[in-house]
Amino acid sequence: MKRITYISRPSSPMTDSEVQEINAYCCERNIAQQITGVLLYFCGLFFQTLEGEEEKVDRLFAKIRQDKRHRDVLCLKMESGNIERMFPDWSMKYFNLDTSVDLLNRPVRLLLQSILESHQIIGRYTQPAVLQIINQGLNPLTMPPRKVERIILFADLVNFSSVSEMLEVEDTAAMLNRFLEISSKIISDFGGEVTKFIGDCVMAYFSPDLADNALSACLCIISALQEQRDSAGPASPMRFLRCGFGLAQGMVIEGNMGSSVKTDYTIIGDAVNIASRLEAMTRKVRKSVVLCEKIKNSLSGDWKLVSVGKLQLKGKENAIEIFYPDHELIGDFADSPAALFEALSS
Ligand SMILES: Cc1cc2nc3c(=O)[nH]c(=O)nc-3n(C[C@H](O)[C@H](O)[C@H](O)COP(=O)(O)O)c2cc1C
Repeated sequence: MKRITYISRPSSPMTDSEVQEINAYCCERNIAQQITGVLLYFCGLFFQTLEGEEEKVDRLFAKIRQDKRHRDVLCLKMESGNIERMFPDWSMKYFNLDTSVDLLNRPVRLLLQSILESHQIIGRYTQPAVLQIINQGLNPLTMPPRKVERIILFADLVNFSSVSEMLEVEDTAAMLNRFLEISSKIISDFGGEVTKFIGDCVMAYFSPDLADNALSACLCIISALQEQRDSAGPASPMRFLRCGFGLAQGMVIEGNMGSSVKTDYTIIGDAVNIASRLEAMTRKVRKSVVLCEKIKNSLSGDWKLVSVGKLQLKGKENAIEIFYPDHELIGDFADSPAALFEALSS
């Protein structure tokens, strides 16, 4: 048995009789498939519960998701296993809460609207991996941790502390938000996922088959920041947008980490520490992207990688060989006090 509950919005406003038409058609089909449930329509929203044999419910929900008559399909809950039908006698009972006069409908309507709003707010604050779990109707808090291979990317603004000491608070916030916006957008466009922001640092991951994407994302961010600097006026905080990247690959533990007060769905492991240390190395190597040997071996594109030699990373017992890509965009990295002074006084 499976039960799926979701909310959606009609693609264009629908009259009661149009919804009734959909419902009549659904009832016929649901009877044949032994699917039961309830369909509510209120304030321009659908709320539907479908229950029946697991495979049939999955198949129907996949079709419903694709149905062009509604959009923003948000799965609120997915239950399966040893559960009983809640609506055994309803092949698809339809209620229009807008036209119904029952007083009880008002609080139900409010409740459903606030669920939808809460989901939309959570969506803005939550990382995609967690949202994906929530949108499948599953509870991320119950997901056990798992060991997976990941490419970890650390991106950190250069000289952020010194620059922010000089700037007005609003300018610092505007600069940081511009960096976070640009980098997270590019990282997700290349198939990566931002795990968290740590001050002026972005931590993200890619699956191990996306090494080329991870490196391309770094170059794309470098180029976007360069554009920002080039078009920034002499007083604009955007002229300080410059960033270093560390890329490492390895097994990590992905899952819920935290306490009963606050939990993060995040990743931990050696590769995370190495990526962070590599990012710090960009200042020493004076190249804006530094990566480890494992990433070099995962890259399949036509990249020219230059070995910097074996370097001792802070907290690591053995020195590891590190590389930077020989690329025209990588040449612009400068972190010396002289370069900073030049940038500040320009
Ligand atoms: C809000 C909404 C609820 C729906 N509920 C059902 C349902 O309970 N059962 C059903 O067979 N189709 C339902 N449909 C219609 C399906 O999306 C789909 O059009 C239908 O299953 C026919 O698919 P087919 O012609 O590709 O087989 C619903 C559509 C909408 C917009």
